Amino acid sequence: MSRVAIIGCGVVGSSWTLVFARAGHDVVVHDPSPEAAEAAVAFVRGSLAGTPEAEAILARIATAASLEEAVAGADYVQESAPERLPIKQALYARLDTLVPPQVVIGSSTSGLPASSFTESLATRARCLVVHPINPPHLIPLVELVPAPWTAAEAVEFAGALMTAVGQEPIRLSREINGFVVNRLQSALLGEAFRLVEDGIVSAAEVDKAVADGLGLRWFFMGPFETIDLNAATGVAEYCRNLGPMYHGLAREQADPRPWSAPLVAAIERERRAAVPGERLPERRLWRDRWLAALVAAKAQIRREFGR
Ligand SMILES: NC(=O)c1ccc[n+]([C@@H]2O[C@H](COP(=O)([O-])OP(=O)(O)OC[C@H]3O[C@@H](n4cnc5c(N)ncnc54)[C@H](O)[C@@H]3O)[C@@H](O)[C@H]2O)c1
Repeated sequence: MSRVAIIGCGVVGSSWTLVFARAGHDVVVHDPSPEAAEAAVAFVRGSLAGTPEAEAILARIATAASLEEAVAGADYVQESAPERLPIKQALYARLDTLVPPQVVIGSSTSGLPASSFTESLATRARCLVVHPINPPHLIPLVELVPAPWTAAEAVEFAGALMTAVGQEPIRLSREINGFVVNRLQSALLGEAFRLVEDGIVSAAEVDKAVADGLGLRWFFMGPFETIDLNAATGVAEYCRNLGPMYHGLAREQADPRPWSAPLVAAIERERRAAVPGERLPERRLWRDRWLAALVAAKAQIRREFGR
């Protein structure tokens, strides 16, 4: 078992702490705010409350008052500092000199390419984006995104580590805005806003189309396997039959619209009528309970049905 340093202990760093510690790694957490580092430990304690392994997992987690102390002896660093370029640039300049050059540094960044904060580093070849979907202790997908100068071995190492701790990595060949997940989400959200703006359906009905329709298949397979199974002889037949229809739809969708203030206000009204603002924290707990139950069910179904 090796030692992982978590740098930045907000929403994402706290969840990463649980991911690495429950997989058996020693985890050292550091945040410029000592309260945030303590809150990460408290988050892990709360998440594990009542489970038999809680004490053993908590015993593997330590807080470090300084960045130097946090990364000393680390075999991997997961950076989860705020999504602000100057903060990442300053932090990586320090990590460049503090972390031994062979140790891989993964950034949780949602949208900053690693090239934007590692270009001038002496040890930039060991840096890449290791982007989780929040919260990573419940959602396994991780996007590995190399900068042009990231060493293949660093991507390899991060991929193997992610698999070992129970995450599901995908490897992008190069940097691209939004990586993969947010590009897919962007395409869907663009159309969802358009359908509401044009008065075709309500926001609730768009949500229903996903929750009770598309999402049931997406729970265990993606869009390509979906269409491969939706024509007798597979994907090529599906594309022959429906390719022209989708091309026509894509042309209608080609002109992206901004999410206008009146449209956002209308959707906000509809959502607040469904879930009042003061009940959002409770609703987030509801979401996380669903997620945890689905993740457990998926593992069980996979054992029975295969991948
Ligand atoms: N929240 C999400 O849904 C989500 C999902 C995937 C990836 N991410 C990415 O993860 C990263 C962290 O996001 P978050 O939502 O946890 O943010 P957050 O604001 O909850 O936490 C950021 C933490 O970093 C600390 N911090 C401030 N300056 C720092 C520094 N110089 N060095 C180290 N830590 C510092 C802050 O005190 C805070 O505790 C961002 O890059 C974000 O894009 C977020």
